[in-house]
Amino acid sequence: MAEQWHPVARTDEIDEEDLIAIELDGRTLAIYNSDGGYFATDGICTHEDACLADGLVIDGVIECPMHQGRFRIATGKALGAPVSVDLKTYPAREEGGQVFVLIDRTTG
Ligand code: FES
Repeated sequence: MAEQWHPVARTDEIDEEDLIAIELDGRTLAIYNSDGGYFATDGICTHEDACLADGLVIDGVIECPMHQGRFRIATGKALGAPVSVDLKTYPAREEGGQVFVLIDRTTG
C-alpha cells in the first residue's frame, strides 16, 4: 500500500492559528492548527526557498515570511503576486492528541 498515515506532531505542539515545520520522507511539510482543525501542506514556499513555518497564519491563510506571498491553508491556493503556484496539500487528521498526515509514497 503506497498511502500511509504518519504521526507528525502532538496537538499540544501546535498553538492555535499557528504552524510548525516537520521533515518527512525527505520533504519539509507545514502542519497547521487553524480554523479549529489540522492541515498539512508543503513547507517550502513555491516562490523561492522560504520556510513557511516562519510565516504568519491569518484567517486561514499562511503568509510567507520572505515576500509576504499568501496561500489558502485548506486548499494550498496561491492568492496572488508574488506567488502563482499553489502549495501541495496533504490530508490531515487528529486522533488521541496526535496529528496524522496521509502521504502517498508513489509521488514526489
Ligand atoms: S519566497 Fe515566499 S513569497 Fe517569495
